[in-house]
Amino acid sequence: MTGVFVTGTDTGIGKTLVSAWLVRSWQADYWKPVQSGIADGLDADVVRAVAPDAVVHPSAFLLNAPLSPHRAASLDGVAIALGDFHLPRTSRPLVVEGAGGVLVPLNDRHFMADLMVHLGLPVVLVARSGLGTINHSLLSLEALQRRGVTVAGVVMSGPPNDDNRQAVEHFSGVPVVGQLPQLGGPEGLTRHPPLAWRPWGIS
Ligand SMILES: Nc1ncnc2c1ncn2[C@@H]1O[C@H](COP(=O)(O)OP(=O)(O)O)[C@@H](O)[C@H]1O
Ligand SMILES: [Mg+2]
Repeated sequence: MTGVFVTGTDTGIGKTLVSAWLVRSWQADYWKPVQSGIADGLDADVVRAVAPDAVVHPSAFLLNAPLSPHRAASLDGVAIALGDFHLPRTSRPLVVEGAGGVLVPLNDRHFMADLMVHLGLPVVLVARSGLGTINHSLLSLEALQRRGVTVAGVVMSGPPNDDNRQAVEHFSGVPVVGQLPQLGGPEGLTRHPPLAWRPWGIS
């Protein structure tokens, strides 16, 4: 299995947009294992709109409330267990998009970080490019590293900021492997060049 697990420093930080960019760049499949707030729209539909040829695998959990998965699941009367998650089989690269950030709970014991360990894919951390990103990126990377998660790289979203990029690389030792500028919206991806970077195993 070749692919990445895309997490972020926050919700609404650009995970879906960056995931769609990776899907387009690598002709990859897409999988959103846990989707909360389904009435507000599905991340999978955003990816489908800008990558119509991509195979989109069904979510393991579609939850109603626009809340953390642990709470949204409990409101739906559903229990989430790590054993419920199995990587979809595919011969193409796979881009998996998490919900929220690294320490978002799935249930009363497990976090998104535990799902990353369970699935065993290298992680891409999406971070904002601007003010605040050094703190949020380093906190997220520290939490990932102490759990033994392999981090392939950081992708920054928003107006490029070389100072922040260099600070994150210097203090974390993790490379910033991509920079998605401010686009007009997801459809801007269709005019944006592919990301040349490939993590191990993706050629
Ligand atoms: N680089 C960017 N250019 C333009 N819009 C962006 C960019 N990054 C994120 N956005 C916008 O911010 C919002 C949240 O992004 P999204 O990818 O859905 O975040 P997440 O998946 O982390 O919740 C969306 O409306 C998205 O289009
Ligand atoms: Mg998303």
